[in-house]
Amino acid sequence: MKLRRNRRTALRLAVLLSFVATGAAQAQEGQVNVICSVQAEWCNMIQTVFTKSTGIKVNIVQKGSGEALAQLIAERANPKTDVWFGGTGDPHLQAAEQGLTLEYKSATLPQLYPWAQQQAQQSGWRTVGVYSGPLGFGYNTELIAKKKLPVPRSWADLLKPEYKGEIQVANPASSGTAYTMIATLVQLMGEDKAFDYLKGLHKNIGQYTRSGTGPIKAVARGETTVSISFVHDAPAEKLQGFPVDTVTPAEGTGAEIGSMSIIKGSRNLAAAKKFYEWALTPQAQQFGAAAKQFQLPSNKATPVDPRVPDFKKIKLIDYDYQKYGASAERRRLIARWEKDVNSLPR
Ligand code: G6P
Repeated sequence: MKLRRNRRTALRLAVLLSFVATGAAQAQEGQVNVICSVQAEWCNMIQTVFTKSTGIKVNIVQKGSGEALAQLIAERANPKTDVWFGGTGDPHLQAAEQGLTLEYKSATLPQLYPWAQQQAQQSGWRTVGVYSGPLGFGYNTELIAKKKLPVPRSWADLLKPEYKGEIQVANPASSGTAYTMIATLVQLMGEDKAFDYLKGLHKNIGQYTRSGTGPIKAVARGETTVSISFVHDAPAEKLQGFPVDTVTPAEGTGAEIGSMSIIKGSRNLAAAKKFYEWALTPQAQQFGAAAKQFQLPSNKATPVDPRVPDFKKIKLIDYDYQKYGASAERRRLIARWEKDVNSLPR
C-alpha cells in the first residue's frame, strides 16, 4: 500500500518536474526574497521549481507566522522582504491593517474558493488565501496505549489530570497555530471562560514550542503523547512511519486560512508579483502535496490529495477572521495569555 503510494507520488513528481523543465526555457533574471511560513520541505520545493521555471532566484527565510510579522514590523522603514508566503491568516491581516503589505488584486482571484477571496477582500486586497486547514489534536498511538490513556476527543478532555505533562502546543507569540487555538477557544467559550480553560490546560502542558509544527513532530517521535496541531500536519509524519493519528474536538474547532502577501516597499516588485501569481496557479499549488503538506489548496482547479482533511466531517466554528486578525485584538489576546496563563507555574 505504502509502496504503491510512494510510486504514485514519484509519478506525480515526475509529471510536475517535466512541467518545470518546459517552463525553464524562458530564463529571466532577478531575485525575490521570500519569508516562508510553511514547512521547510514545501519552501525548498517552491524555491527550486520557481527558479528553474523562471530563472528568478528565490531567497528563502523560514519563519513561523508570528515571527514573520515581527520581522516585517522591524523592517518597516527598510524592507528586505518581497513576499510573505504561507502561515496562518490572522497575522497577514494584521500586517495588512498596519500598512506593511501592498494592495494587489490578482486576476486569478475568481478561480479561488470563497474563503480565499474573502481573506483578500477583508484585507483591502493586501493578502490572499493560499490554503486552509483545521485545528485538532495529534497523538502517538503507541505511547497513548502504553500509558493507558484514553484518546482525547474534546477540548474538555484535555483538562483531565491524567494528561498532566503529556500535551504540547506552541507559543502564540511566535506561532500562528497556537494563536488559532486561542482565537478558536475564545469564539467557542467566550473570552473569560476561554482564559479559565487555558489556565487549566497550562497545568497539563509539558512544553510550549516556538513553531506550530514542533508539537506534532514531538508526538511522532514519542517525546510527548498529545499535541494541539493542524490536522494536515500529521500525514507527513505518518508517511515517515511514525505512529501518529489525529482527532478534531467534539465541541468544534477553527480552521486557518494560510495566506500570502506582497510587502510594501518591495525592491523586487516585478519578481514578487510573478511569484505571487505563480503561487496561486493549480500547477504551483500541487507542490504542497508533492512536499507532503496536506492543506486544502485555495485554487478550485488544484487537485485535492486524498490525505487532505475532509472539512465536511469536521465540526467547524464560523471563525471570524476579520475580528481575530485585527491588530489590537491579536496583540491583546497574546498579551493576556502571557500575563494570565504563561506566567503561572505548572
Ligand atoms: C505549518 C502548517 C501551516 C501553518 C504553519 C503555521 O507549517 O502546515 O499550515 O500555516 O504551520 O506555522 P506557525 O509556526 O506560525 O504556527
